[in-house]
Amino acid sequence: MASTIKKVIFHTATMKEVESFNNIEELDTESKYLVHKAKEATTHSYAPYSKFHVGAALVLEDGTLVTGCNQENASYPLCMCAERVALYTAASQYPNKRVMKIAVVAHKKNHKELVPATSCGACAQVMLEFEYRQKKPIEVIMMGPKEKWLKCSSVHAILPMGFTKDNLD
Ligand code: THU
Repeated sequence: MASTIKKVIFHTATMKEVESFNNIEELDTESKYLVHKAKEATTHSYAPYSKFHVGAALVLEDGTLVTGCNQENASYPLCMCAERVALYTAASQYPNKRVMKIAVVAHKKNHKELVPATSCGACAQVMLEFEYRQKKPIEVIMMGPKEKWLKCSSVHAILPMGFTKDNLD
């Protein structure tokens, strides 16, 4: 009997694009610096509803640092994630500069310890658009499950089948 499964596509390549570290000290110096800046950015997070404070810090090709933090609203769907605040700020203020790397961190309420915060699908999709625009990958640093630090060499590693302009052409 003929199989109904015509083709199975494995995204094994993307798995290789994620490195995992048990300790933040194992990250490279620039990544650690971005994590530090992302943590600082949580200071201005406005999260009275979720009490989940998120910060993002990105570095542009010329070394410029841009940060963002989540901004919530009583009308919940209007809440904006830290990553998108940082990315859209970068695109508005430095439109032609490539985003090299972004770090995302979070903590709950006023606790100092960071908790796992992997970028939501919407932010990953926005990051993907940035990669598409600049035709160069963006490294993403975040704390994943079991408090392991994840270093993704491209947004494709977190969103392997995202939607791009190629779908529309
Ligand atoms: N949040 C982010 O800032 N980034 C993400 O990738 C996921 C979630 C924010 C949105 C909201 O203010 C809070 O975290 C709880 O969902």
